[in-house]
Amino acid sequence: MAGLIIRNLYKTFNINNKEVNALSNINLTIEDGSFVTIVGKSGCGKTTLLRAICGLEKVTKGNMEFTKGSNEKNISKRVGIVFQEPRLMPWLTVEQNMAFPLLKSDDKEAVHDIVHKYLEMLGLENFKDAYPNQISGGMAQRVALGRTLCYDPEIILMDEPLGALDAFNRRKLQNEFINIFTENKKTIIFVTHDVEEAIYLGQKIVVFDKGSVRSEIPVSLDYYRDTTSLEFLKLREEILGLLLA
Ligand SMILES: Nc1ncnc2c1ncn2[C@@H]1O[C@H](COP(=O)(O)OP(=O)(O)O)[C@@H](O)[C@H]1O
Ligand SMILES: [Mg+2]
Repeated sequence: MAGLIIRNLYKTFNINNKEVNALSNINLTIEDGSFVTIVGKSGCGKTTLLRAICGLEKVTKGNMEFTKGSNEKNISKRVGIVFQEPRLMPWLTVEQNMAFPLLKSDDKEAVHDIVHKYLEMLGLENFKDAYPNQISGGMAQRVALGRTLCYDPEIILMDEPLGALDAFNRRKLQNEFINIFTENKKTIIFVTHDVEEAIYLGQKIVVFDKGSVRSEIPVSLDYYRDTTSLEFLKLREEILGLLLA
């Protein structure tokens, strides 16, 4: 398990000779073993931040440092990402998609055990031989999560992974994320534009606006959270107030 310290991070894009500051002076500490949600409007730099963390985006300025965990130098071995769309390979079954990151392993028995552990955990066992076009969107997103879990990174990044789902499947998967977090003790950084989702999941909520951290709000409510409780609603108003200001 690892944490992350982000210091003075900047990312500037050049669009038609105009500079766009997607991230400006981000300072953030992600404690190891914590579930952090990042909430902000569309276009505020959430995806850019996740891409910077996992090394897909070269930053303009600043640095990041892992805390605790392994000594692995290769960032992509330590950080896994679940995108908004499942990005499954259509020619592979559910089981094969999940096993994909372990393709190079010689220990086929161990791979089988890991994949089946997560197939079971995510309720996918009966669909292990199905192809992506034969399963629902919610299930496909479960497979994408399972693939990342099989990869077993120290930090899991999630970029609005439930954005395309209906309210029922969304809540169901949110609860599964909580179960996975509490059972596996992973560090999770979860990005969303949905204020309620950020409060439902996060032990710390980072409110993001125009490429900057607007506020960091610790949440001590127990899982599973009552979205109608006074504390929950107060947090919701506080965050909406920050983003509307
Ligand atoms: N590859 C890119 N090239 C140019 N501009 C980009 C690129 N990726 C993101 N941006 C710009 O950076 C800003 C933040 O985008 P993004 O991180 O995708 O926001 P969010 O995920 O919060 O919706 C936007 O203004 C977007 O247009
Ligand atoms: Mg985005």
